Amino acid sequence: ATERTFSIIKPDATERNLTGAVNAVIEKAGLRIVAQKRILMNRREAETFYAVHKERPFFGELVDFMISAPVVVQVLEGDNAVVKYREIMGATNPESAAEGTIRKLYAKSIGENSVHGSDSQENAKLEIAQFFSGNEIVG
Ligand code: CMP
Repeated sequence: ATERTFSIIKPDATERNLTGAVNAVIEKAGLRIVAQKRILMNRREAETFYAVHKERPFFGELVDFMISAPVVVQVLEGDNAVVKYREIMGATNPESAAEGTIRKLYAKSIGENSVHGSDSQENAKLEIAQFFSGNEIVG
């Protein structure tokens, strides 16, 4: 079924001018970018977004990284979008990511891994709502 997922093009990718390269992989996979904006996240937004990871040892590093440079937040739409986007992102650790995936192509490390994608339809709805109002999404 047609569904939506939430994506972030992370600071390591925006700093290397890879926004278009990442978007090309997304569009080639048949996902449509139905909302997109470049923002500088503030600490509170990043901490809220990654609240599920707040007890992890890398939480502070993760938040510092996500606010270190602009990110591009996106809503992607398509058939089976949540699972499809996770497939084309590849594994969290780029060393384990499959050939042709965004993280295999572009990620620098497990932390600076170029993209985020929602892990479920439920989280996609919550994440989209954190960054976009309804009238900013045009399918
Ligand atoms: P993301 O999909 O955005 O969700 C949580 C993020 O935490 C993950 O991508 C990684 O960027 C980051 N992360 C996961 N494991 C580690 C780790 N061991 N060290 C640093 N960052 C990590």
